[in-house]
Amino acid sequence: MITLTVDDRTIQAPAGNSVLSACLSAGIYIPHLCWLEGDTPADAPAACRLCFVEIDGLGEPLAACAVTVENGMTVHTATEAVRSLQKTALKLLLSVHRVECKPCPANRACQLQTIAAFLGTGLGCKPFERVLKEPEVDSRHPVLDYYPNRCVLCGICVRICRQQHPLSRLSFAGRGFDTVVGYFDADPVVAADCLSCRACLDACPTGALVQRTEGDG
Ligand code: FES
Repeated sequence: MITLTVDDRTIQAPAGNSVLSACLSAGIYIPHLCWLEGDTPADAPAACRLCFVEIDGLGEPLAACAVTVENGMTVHTATEAVRSLQKTALKLLLSVHRVECKPCPANRACQLQTIAAFLGTGLGCKPFERVLKEPEVDSRHPVLDYYPNRCVLCGICVRICRQQHPLSRLSFAGRGFDTVVGYFDADPVVAADCLSCRACLDACPTGALVQRTEGDG
């Protein structure tokens, strides 16, 4: 086990774990969206840029999901620099997210709501130009509807799909501002797999993936 100090608390974590994983396991919340339970620093895409911390001796704030715990490490999760970067990361995520919580199935369980409340910004903070996509909904998947304007491209659904199914069907498509989660047409066997697996739905932090109810589409 590795012993480190986080915000004046001494905690322990298995060697090889990330600072984010160690903190979350010890009940110390750090905002995060793209980290999956069990991710090591080598697995972490470090895409959402929310999980910044400062670590003594390592200079600028770093993404906690991408840093391996070390004995004697001293971590600060709530400095002014950390909070400023986290708020900027949230604003960037919100610039591609349609804030329309009431009809969204993720309302009250949405990670963006949790993070905005934690940072004290609310979801109204949008200083960056909004980049909303067309179409509003993509219904090409046999059982899922995908709402591009709720998706913050954390990549959790794509990674879970790859972990669960050797012939995974979800993947990023497009480039830059046009990037979306795409569905690549499957043969009937793979499509049947999709009928029984809810892993991506359960993991989506923003309600971008929704199971189509009977009679839809
Ligand atoms: Fe670390 Fe997304 S959880 S960058």
